[in-house]
Amino acid sequence: MKVIFSFLFLSFSSIAIHLYQQKPLNQSIADGEEIYADFCLQCHMDNGQGVPGSFPPLAKSDYLKNIDQSIHAIKFGLKGPITVNGKSYNSNMISQGLDDEEIADVMNYILRSWGNKTDVIITEDKVAAIQK
Ligand code: HEC
Repeated sequence: MKVIFSFLFLSFSSIAIHLYQQKPLNQSIADGEEIYADFCLQCHMDNGQGVPGSFPPLAKSDYLKNIDQSIHAIKFGLKGPITVNGKSYNSNMISQGLDDEEIADVMNYILRSWGNKTDVIITEDKVAAIQK
C-alpha cells in the first residue's frame, strides 16, 4: 500500500511540475512578439503583410491555418512552390534555428496578430512532436 501511495504521489508531482513548466499564454505571446521582431520581421514585415512576389504574408494567411505544416516550415525551413491566399511563391525560407519553445511562442504570437484569430494554444510539446 505504501509503495502504491508513493508511486501515486510521484506521478502526480511529475504531472504538476510539467503543468507548472508550461508558461502562461500571455507570456508566450509576449516572448513570441520579440522573437518575431528579431527573426521574422525582416522578411514578413511589421504588419505580417510580407513583400508581394517575394515574401508571403502571415496576416490572414490561409497557409498558416494548417498549423502543423506552418510549424514544420518554421522548424525545418520551407523551399519550393507554395500558394498563399491565391498567390504563388517559389522561394526558400531557411530554418531560423529557433528551439521548440521559441517556435511555440512565435506561433502563439502570429496566430493572434494582424487580424489572425485562433483558440489553439501551441505548446513546446506540440512543436517537439512535429518531425521532419
Ligand atoms: C529571409 C527571409 C525570411 C525570414 C527571416 C523568415 N521567413 Fe518565413 N518565409 C520566407 C519565404 C521566402 C517563404 C516562402 C517559401 C517558399 O516559397 O517555399 C516563407 C514562408 C513562411 C510561412 C508559410 C507561408 C505563409 O506565409 O503563411 C510561414 C508560416 C513563415 N514563413 C513564418 C516565418 C516565421 C515565424 C519566421 C521567423 C521565425 C520567418 N518566417 C522568417 C522568408 C522568410
